[in-house]
Amino acid sequence: MTAEKQLQQNAGVVERMPWKNEMNMEFDAVSLNESFARVAVAAFVAHLNPTLDEVADIKTAVSEAVTNAIIHGYDNVYGYGKHGNSQPAYLIIHPGKVQLRCRLEKDVLQIEVEDCGKGIVDVEQAMEPLYTTKPEYDRSGMGFAFMEAFMDELEVHSRPGQGTLVRMVKKLGTYPLIEEGN
Ligand SMILES: Nc1ncnc2c1ncn2[C@@H]1O[C@H](COP(=O)(O)OP(=O)(O)OP(=O)(O)O)[C@@H](O)[C@H]1O
Ligand SMILES: [Mg+2]
Repeated sequence: MTAEKQLQQNAGVVERMPWKNEMNMEFDAVSLNESFARVAVAAFVAHLNPTLDEVADIKTAVSEAVTNAIIHGYDNVYGYGKHGNSQPAYLIIHPGKVQLRCRLEKDVLQIEVEDCGKGIVDVEQAMEPLYTTKPEYDRSGMGFAFMEAFMDELEVHSRPGQGTLVRMVKKLGTYPLIEEGN
């Protein structure tokens, strides 16, 4: 070990890989935070110069996962469309938080969206295209199918009464840029 390294170690300095980065955030489970979440993730990866398609894919996947946490996890449907004119005149917001965690390692982005809401009894069934438990709110049952299509990996873990964790991974095609130190 060089003297400089030894000094750094003594001072508690941890060597940091420039291509590793993490961010965690928590926000109220209300509809307006859906756009906030997707823009936050897009900003998190912006320095990698992702393509427009990559950014669009990531934003869509984040939107779908966060929307699910809000409207299914916590039943906070206010702000989302409903057939007919039966939008409630008063505003019911169930208290609840959504956690969003992002991790970049080189050009591999992992996103976790977690809620402590009602959970899913049958995850396999929930992930089938066109399966929805809220057709009256114009949901089409395609959220998980989109997440699967737009990301490279999708995992869903859920416990009824405890909440749901969605983990998604996408590899961006920008590693050569990182190697050059950009
Ligand atoms: N975080 C969650 N908490 C509880 N249930 C969920 C959660 N996410 C999804 N689900 C259940 O899984 C079903 C399928 O989700 P998916 O996102 O594929 O479709 P959708 O939300 O119903 O419709 P769309 O996403 O097309 O608007 C939901 O209808 C709901 O029953
Ligand atoms: Mg959905």
